[in-house]
Formats: sequence, C-alpha cells, structure tokens
Amino acid sequence: MEKIALITGAASGIGLALAGEAARDGYSLLLVDKNSAGLQQATDGIKQRYPDIRISFLAADLSRNETVGEILNKIKETGAYVSMLINCAGFGVYGNFFETVWERELEMISVHIETPTRLIKEYLPGMIKNGEGYILNVASLAGFIPGPVMAVYYATKAYLISFSRAVAAELRGTGVSIAVLCPGVTHTGFSRTVHGKTAGIAKSGSLSATAESVARYGYRSLKKGRIVVIPGLVNKILYSFQRIFPSSVVVRMVKRSQERIGRSVQRDI
Ligand SMILES: NC(=O)c1ccc[n+]([C@@H]2O[C@H](COP(=O)([O-])OP(=O)(O)OC[C@H]3O[C@@H](n4cnc5c(N)ncnc54)[C@H](OP(=O)(O)O)[C@@H]3O)[C@@H](O)[C@H]2O)c1
Repeated sequence: MEKIALITGAASGIGLALAGEAARDGYSLLLVDKNSAGLQQATDGIKQRYPDIRISFLAADLSRNETVGEILNKIKETGAYVSMLINCAGFGVYGNFFETVWERELEMISVHIETPTRLIKEYLPGMIKNGEGYILNVASLAGFIPGPVMAVYYATKAYLISFSRAVAAELRGTGVSIAVLCPGVTHTGFSRTVHGKTAGIAKSGSLSATAESVARYGYRSLKKGRIVVIPGLVNKILYSFQRIFPSSVVVRMVKRSQERIGRSVQRDI
C-alpha cells in the first residue's frame, strides 16, 4: 500500500522544508496549511524537484474542530496509509497574558496541542498495526522553560515535549518512532500576534538557522530513532545553559529577551 506523509504547516518555513525531506525519501505527501496560495507554490516546487512523488494538499484552518475530519476524508480519497505524520503548523502570540487576545491564544492551543494530539490518536494505531511509522512534533527550545510575555506559546511547546517523550516510552518495541524537534530562532515567516496585529518576526542573523538545516537535522534524527531533537550547536548550548542556571535567573533573562524582541516587532507593524 502507498505510504503517505501527512505534514501540517507545510506551506512555508520548517514544514515546507520537512515536506522536501519526506519527498526526497520517497513518501507521497499530503500537505495541510491555511495558506492556500503557499500550498500551491509548495506543491509546484516539490513536484519540480521530485516529479515522481504524488502530492496533494488541503487548505484548512487547523484550529477548527472540523479540520481533522476533513484530513481523514482527504487521506481516504488518496487510498494511501499514513506512515509519517509531521505536526509543524504554529504561530506565536506576544504580550503579557493579562493583555493578550484570548481568541488568538485559544486558536494557538488548538493548533499546537489539540489538533496534533487528535491526529496522532487517529493515525498511531494504524502505524502500530503495520509495525512501522514515524511521528515528528515540532515544538521549540521555548518548550523547556517558562516564557514570560509569550506564556501560552512556551507552555504549548512544553506540552508537545512532555507528550512526545511519554508516548515514545510507550512505543518502545512497536517499530513506530516519535520525536520532538526543538528549534531555536530560525529564519522563516514565523509570525506572532502582537496586540491583535500579526507580524512576521524571525529575522535572519548570525544566530538564526535556516529552515532547511533545521528540517534536515530533524528528519534524520527522527529516522535514527532520537526522541528529543535540538538542532544546532548554539541551541544545544542555550539548552545546557538553562539547565545549569537557577530557573528564576533563566525566567528573568527570557523576559528581558522577549521584551526586546517585542519592541522591535512593534516598530515593524
Ligand atoms: N521560526 C522560528 O524561529 C521557530 C523556532 C522554534 C520553533 N518554531 C516552530 O516551528 C513551526 C513552524 O514555524 P515556521 O518558523 O516554519 O513558521 P512559518 O513559516 O510561519 O510556518 C508555519 C505555517 O503554519 C501555518 N499555520 C499557522 N496557523 C495555522 C492554522 N491555524 N491552520 C493551518 N496552518 C496554520 C502558517 O500559515 P500562515 O503563514 O498563513 O500563518 C505557516 O504556513 C511552528 O510550530 C513554530 O512554533 C519556529
């Protein structure tokens, strides 16, 4: 039976680069994202590089309850079986929790937590039955620490790390692997909502990685059976740093750094 990789957030950034990795590896693809023009472009670009790969896409908002049903139907239409699931869609909401827009945070909780968990619930039993499958959740370095001024974002990523590690322990010996990719700052179109307005924020700079390098490392690590995956030396150092220092110091530093980023985003919007 044809094997398909289902990838959310695949219209741009890390998700698009992960779709390229899966195509190179010979998987058929179902790309899901709310950016339909980006999906069409992504499909055309991947088809050009990998003409033999079957690709379909679904433009849908992953914060809506109905979207999981639409994905299930679309997969049934393809007649393929989901042997790889990559949950990558995401965005940030910036601001003190007592000032942010709740509806946008609720959307984020659905996109980062509810929908990935439901998709894993749907497709994991089939993978176990087949004795083979791969799941990659895209969290963030942010998931290891509390994140003042982006409190809900950091907390949703912490959920993804905890959940992935727990399920990984359950899956030992089944032939199915789950990993959680924890990038640091990556040069993509990653957006944050600041005071109700959405702005792209991930800028290029000496410390920011490319989506392609993050995706390649994440994909290879998934295939090697690693569980918690931190791409790049700088991010590994930052991760070690937050484990060495007292958490009160780390939280104060995160707050200061978020406030600095916030000021620059507000200048741009
Ligand atoms: N870039 C970084 O510095 C960084 C660092 C750590 C972790 N991450 C994580 O990496 C993942 C990918 O982000 P990225 O940096 O590649 O940013 P990106 O280029 O903006 O990709 C995210 C994709 O998810 C889509 N998306 C957002 N909300 C959605 C929804 N409700 N339904 C369907 N699709 C939705 C976006 O569509 P629109 O463009 O239409 O919004 C976009 O195409 C995210 O989970 C992010 O938290 C990023």
